[in-house]
Parts: sequence; structure tokens; C-alpha cells
Amino acid sequence: AADALVIFTPSGKRGRVPTGTSVLDAARLLDVDLDSVCGGRGICSKCQVTPSFGEFSKHGVHARENALSEWNAVEARYHEKRGLAQGRRLGCQACILGDMVIDVPATSQVHKQVVRKAASQRAVTMDPATRLVLIDVAEPDMHEPSGDYERLATALDEQWQIGPVTAPLSVLRKLQPALRRGKWQVTVAVNIADTPARVIDIWPGYHEGPLWGLAIDLGSTTIAAHLCDLTTGQVATSAGVMNPQIRFGEDLMSRVSYAMMNADGAQAMTAAVLDALNTLATEICAEAEVAPRDVVEAVFVCNPVMHHLLLGIDPVELGQAPFALATSGAVTLSATELGLTAVNPAAQTYLLPCIAGHVGADAAAVALSEAPDKSDELVLIVDVGTNAEILLGNRDRVLACSSPTGPAFEGAQISSGQRAAPGAIERVEIDPVTKEPRFRVIGCELWSDDPGFAEATAATGITGICGSGIIEAVAEMRMAGLLDASGLIGGPEQTGTPRSIAEGRTYSYVLQDDRPAGGSLIAVTQGDIRAIQLAKSALYAGARLLMDEMGVDTVDRVTLAGAFGAHISPKHAMVLGMIPDAPLDKVTSAGNAAGTGARMALCSRAARAEIEQTVSKITKVETAIEPRFQEHFVAANAIPHATAPFAHLRS
Ligand code: FES
Repeated sequence: AADALVIFTPSGKRGRVPTGTSVLDAARLLDVDLDSVCGGRGICSKCQVTPSFGEFSKHGVHARENALSEWNAVEARYHEKRGLAQGRRLGCQACILGDMVIDVPATSQVHKQVVRKAASQRAVTMDPATRLVLIDVAEPDMHEPSGDYERLATALDEQWQIGPVTAPLSVLRKLQPALRRGKWQVTVAVNIADTPARVIDIWPGYHEGPLWGLAIDLGSTTIAAHLCDLTTGQVATSAGVMNPQIRFGEDLMSRVSYAMMNADGAQAMTAAVLDALNTLATEICAEAEVAPRDVVEAVFVCNPVMHHLLLGIDPVELGQAPFALATSGAVTLSATELGLTAVNPAAQTYLLPCIAGHVGADAAAVALSEAPDKSDELVLIVDVGTNAEILLGNRDRVLACSSPTGPAFEGAQISSGQRAAPGAIERVEIDPVTKEPRFRVIGCELWSDDPGFAEATAATGITGICGSGIIEAVAEMRMAGLLDASGLIGGPEQTGTPRSIAEGRTYSYVLQDDRPAGGSLIAVTQGDIRAIQLAKSALYAGARLLMDEMGVDTVDRVTLAGAFGAHISPKHAMVLGMIPDAPLDKVTSAGNAAGTGARMALCSRAARAEIEQTVSKITKVETAIEPRFQEHFVAANAIPHATAPFAHLRS
């Protein structure tokens, strides 16, 4: 046969193929990304293409004398049964007869780019570890006494070049009925990330999918999960719960001590977190109407103590120098082995690698999402949580540390504190003259002094202050002169406002007093200020320590990350002295960078390979044994700071 020139868009890949070649085969020959689940059987329609120049085959003439007559018979049958959009053809059926330009729409690309959310976030190219494939398995033959599984493995390799495979018991149990019900045609979900590949599940005949994955950010205080479509990378549902391990200790070190002091302490904490994860997975699937069986991947990011407790590894070594991890590399294991029962039993779970004993997979996930190692500018990335993950670097060098900020930034240990939820105060302004506050609550667009605010918040009420709210409240109190540089709240005589009320020997500042109407008093107490001072000093000291190590006094850019990082106002963070001084327009929010990193690792094998590489190049700085940390911590106690000039605050 003569050759035809084919150009694929949008990739621009081109080459000559013999006329009569199907588009799917041409795509494979020219290394064009064209999806297929059924392997060219005209069943899945994942291979759809649009000819933009030239003409496809007219052979395989269909009986009817209409537009369909130009179609291949298999394609015509598909169109009659399920319909193909105008101009679309099945790439596995349409053959190339002459020079052509063929467009591969995004929906037909396996490795489609997933739209990025924020400017700072990187676009992800879909490259999931688990995919669906349709295969025809040879029927058993008394003269060839091989098992059904062995013939399935042969078919997988012959029809999809998957190489050797293994299958867990959960698959072997379903194998025989599935093969017979599907008349020896089955769809299997196969994880190709490892060698040998692993069969995850099996369905009789053609199974449409999509497959799903969970990206889980397992924090010391909260657990957040995102259910992602493994074909498109889109998040269908997100949900969060409190980490039930809190009852064993609020912060990491108290949980490590609990494990040291109690014989089955670690086990009890592992059981508690698995229980919460299973409940969360069940709820999130129910909400998205996804069958738990279709959830075939889960990726975890967490700090080292959470990491060990999730795996059922006693974390005692992490509580004492030299803070040795049981394993620092990425961990891959099945959901059953992990104890995650609310997803497919053979689902693969993947834990990102840890950087060091105090700098975990959550910091690795932030590094993956924010890519400081690819930045020309010197960027400081602060992931605010109960334990702050801090990264400083550029393309030459990246440093990392963690700092024990405590749960104050998440609204815990704050008298009126609460998790970010409807009804929580999230924005605060205080008039420097009248000392009167106005605020906004989550779930309402209005400010508290806008008309209609009371009606708009009637349903939720005003229930407390969340992390971003307390940061703004304290910073605004400082700017309004309600608070001195040492963090002491002034009494009514000094501040001139009756909102300063005595509470024992100290004062509180009242944001809202609803007690006459049967509501509650929401105030910032001296204890709250102390908790915030401890948290922000720890954060600042960690950042400062990395700057010392890097030999710099300033950074080019500051990125605030964390579940509520997106909600922290850069100005207030700087007034408080949470972060080193920088031009305000160079302080940005990255949202939940650890969660984004988890999603990237869920959607892309390349992202996993990248982060496994990157962590080995990140230098870890240990705050716990560094004497300068203490010095920095003490100096950072003042608001914003005892000695650092904070030049950008004046402008
Ligand atoms: Fe499945 Fe073409 S590859 S329909």
C-alpha cells in the first residue's frame, strides 16, 4: 500500500503510515496519545477523533444509503446504539486512505493536562497508575490444563503488552464468574505503576468506569480527603473530619509520648485514624454516588508521626534524637494491607516519601505542588498547620524544616476557636479610632455592620473564630492599639473602649456579645493571644533558621499554604510577624498545597517519580536540636518582632 502523511493535532506529531491503517494504529505508531479501553473493538468510544483535513475510509459499507454508509460497520453499529457526535469518528475503526490532519480531542487523551487552579500551582498531566482494559480471554480446554487466571494474564500481555502481572485473592475470587458471565470478555483494572503490574479488579464484559482515587491530607488536627476522577483528574467531592487521635494528645509530641507511656498506645491511635479514614471514605463516596469498589487508588500525605501511626509503626524513635524514620522512601501497599476497608480491597495506596524525621510526606507534597526547586526567585513556603512545614529555596538549593506551632492556627486552644465552617468569624477589622470591630463569617458575603447581616447569618448563627479570623483579630488589635508589642491586652482605661473586659487579672476584647439574646460571648482573651504568640513565634523562628542556613536576610517571595493558607491575609500575617518581612505583593497564598501535591501524585506516575527524586535533594534542618531556634523563638514573641525591622509594614 502507498503511504499517507498524517498529522495529529494538538500534539503536532506526524509521519507516514500505509494507507488502510486505522487511526488508533497510526497513533500508536507515531506515539500519539489516543485513549482506548476496549483495544480497538469498537466498544468503548474512548478513541474518538475528528478529521480536520482529508478523508477517512469509506470501506466496510453499511447497508443503509445515508451518511452512515460511509462508516465502517462496527462504527455504524456503535453510532446506532450509543451515538457519536457530529464529525466524530471511532479512531480504532476509521482507516486512513490519504493525507490527513486528525484532531484528538482532550477527552480522548489519556495524558490530558488538568487545568491548574491557582497561578502558582502546576498543571498536571494525567498519567494514572491504574487503568481499565478490555480483554478477550481464551476459554479453558481440557487438553491444555491452565488456570483461568493464567489465560487472563496471557491475554493481558498479548492484547495490551502489560508484561507479567499478579492478582490478589480478592480478584481470584471474582475471576471465574466474571469470565463466564462476560462470555470470556472482561474488563480489568490494572495497576501498571509497579513491575509486575497488578490486577485490581475484574468486571464481566465492558465496564465503563471511570475509576476513582482518593487524595488524603492526613493532618494532626484535621483529615481532608478529595475524591478524584482518574480519567479527568477532576475532584468530585471533598470532605474533612477532625483527626480522632486528638484525644490521645493535641500535638505530635504528646501523641508520641502517649505511645511511649502506653503498651498499646500506638495501636489504639492507628485503629482510631483508620476508623476515621474509613468513615470519611464511605461518606465521600456516598455523597458523590461512587461505588467504593470503583475507588482504586489512595494517596496519603502526612507528617512523619501521622505516617508511622497510619502504617501501625510505633513512632517512639521520632520522639528522640536522631529522629530516625522506620522508612523514608515512598510506601506502596494494598488497601487491605493498610486497613482501608471502605475502598476496593486491592486498591493501591501510596504514601509520599518523607524528607526526614521531622519533615514528612506533607512537606514533600508541598515541594511537589509549589516546586521551589524550579524557581529562580528565593521562595519561602510556609504550610501552616498544627505542625508547620517550611521550605526555603530556589533552583540551586532547597532547605526544609518543620516547626511545632501547635493547633492554635486551626482554631484549637483558642477560647472561642473553631474549625473553618459556616458561622465562624473569618475576617476582622477594628476601627483604630472607635475601637469598634466589624467582621465577616464563613458562608455570608456581608460584613457585620451591613444591613441584613443578622438575617443572613440567622441560620448558622455566629459560632466562633476560625484560624484566619484569629490571625486577623490579633493583628487588628495590635494595629488599633488594643494590644502592646509584648502581646498584653489593655484594660478599658488604656484602650478607651468598654469592649476591653476584665477576666481575672487580665483583659479580653469582646468581638460580639450575644448573651442577652441567648447567644454566646465571642472574645479574644489574653490566653488566646499567648497561644497565637507561641504559634507565630515557632513559625517565624523556623523560617528564620532556614534563612540563616541559606545565609540570607530577606527572601524574594513568600507563599502561604495550608488548609486555610488561602484564607490568611498576607497583611495580617505580616503585622503579626508570622512570616519574615517581604514586599506585600510578594506574599501570596497557594491554598492547600499539600492536598494539591497529593492530587498530583494520585493523577500522575511522573509526579511520583519526580517527588521521589526531589526529596533526596532537599536539605533538612532540624529545629529541635538547633540552639538558634530558641533565640529566634524568643525574639519573635513580640508583635511583630523584638528586633527585626519589618520595613515593609511601614509602607
Ligand atoms: Fe474502544 Fe475504539 S478503542 S471504541
